[in-house]
Amino acid sequence: MLKEEIEKIYNEALEKINDIKEEQALKDLKATILGKKGELTEILKGLKDATPEERPKIGALVNEVRDSLEAKFSEVQNAINQKILEEKLSKDTIDVTLPSNKPIRGSKHPLNRVIEEIEDLFVSMGYDVVSGPELETDEFCFKRLNLPEGHPARDMQDSFYITEENLLRTQTSAVQARVMMANEEKTPIRVIVPGKTYRREDDATHSHQFNQVEGLVVDENISFADLKGTLEVFMKKMLGQNTELRFRPSYFPFTEPSYEVDVSCFKCGGKGCNLCKQTGWIELLGSGMVHPNVLKMNGYDPEKYSGFAFGVGLDRLAMFKYDITDIRLLYRNDVRFLKQFDRKDEEYEIKY
Ligand code: DAH
Repeated sequence: MLKEEIEKIYNEALEKINDIKEEQALKDLKATILGKKGELTEILKGLKDATPEERPKIGALVNEVRDSLEAKFSEVQNAINQKILEEKLSKDTIDVTLPSNKPIRGSKHPLNRVIEEIEDLFVSMGYDVVSGPELETDEFCFKRLNLPEGHPARDMQDSFYITEENLLRTQTSAVQARVMMANEEKTPIRVIVPGKTYRREDDATHSHQFNQVEGLVVDENISFADLKGTLEVFMKKMLGQNTELRFRPSYFPFTEPSYEVDVSCFKCGGKGCNLCKQTGWIELLGSGMVHPNVLKMNGYDPEKYSGFAFGVGLDRLAMFKYDITDIRLLYRNDVRFLKQFDRKDEEYEIKY
């Protein structure tokens, strides 16, 4: 009796298994036959009614059937797994002809754009590009530039002193003295010095760290006309060919005479707008003829040599050129800001 029932369960199970395509249906069927309350387990409960001779035989048969069904179940399970895998693979196939995601590229920082442009221009006019230390001595930053200790003009710059003698340079002018001193043959000098400078200030138009480019020319017969012509070429290249320059007498300890140079407002063309505060002019750089004391202190005979120098804030220049209203944007490295400069120079508004 029991034996027939077991065989019936077995045969029915085999028939059902063969029709199964889904994982869940397979699990359900397995539970109804081999589970704790499954058909085969129930049979074992009827074992107590069987004769003692029959019991081991039935027990053995149940085990045999269970093993066989378990093997069958895992066989079908494997087939289902294989099918799932194949479906997944066929969906995930890579189409190598599709365009790929664009790789994220960096872009040239606006300050570096401006520096490179200036370097290209001056190198094309025969200048060398030089650099000096950012941690400077009081000697080069001030004394050798005709600014002795206690000189009131030192107050023009809020310095970061590290020790009594060392400070973070407040101006790239410090490199003027270095270049003159280092030139032992005292041959003519034509250099520009782009670099970082530091002062104790921090707001929308000032940063405690900023950038300047210094220019220095020393030779025989250098005159104000050379300074004027050079700055004109420089500013027209940076801000557009229609740019005009205005030299306002000013004071810097290392130049005599000294000038502050304004450029005609490139936004309104000089008519007056909010950028130039209705004046038509924008103050941009300091310059002048190298002071005889500076030449002498750094080994050049002022009777024989003369020179001109200028210093420009690069941050301001970049801000004007690219219409940036907060200097701090230049130092935050926010990619949303930086990626706006992922363009060719020709695509910017100012045309040369
Ligand atoms: N060093 C000055 C500053 O930071 C700028 C400057 C003015 C530089 C006149 C010069 C110069 O070379 O001749 O304010």
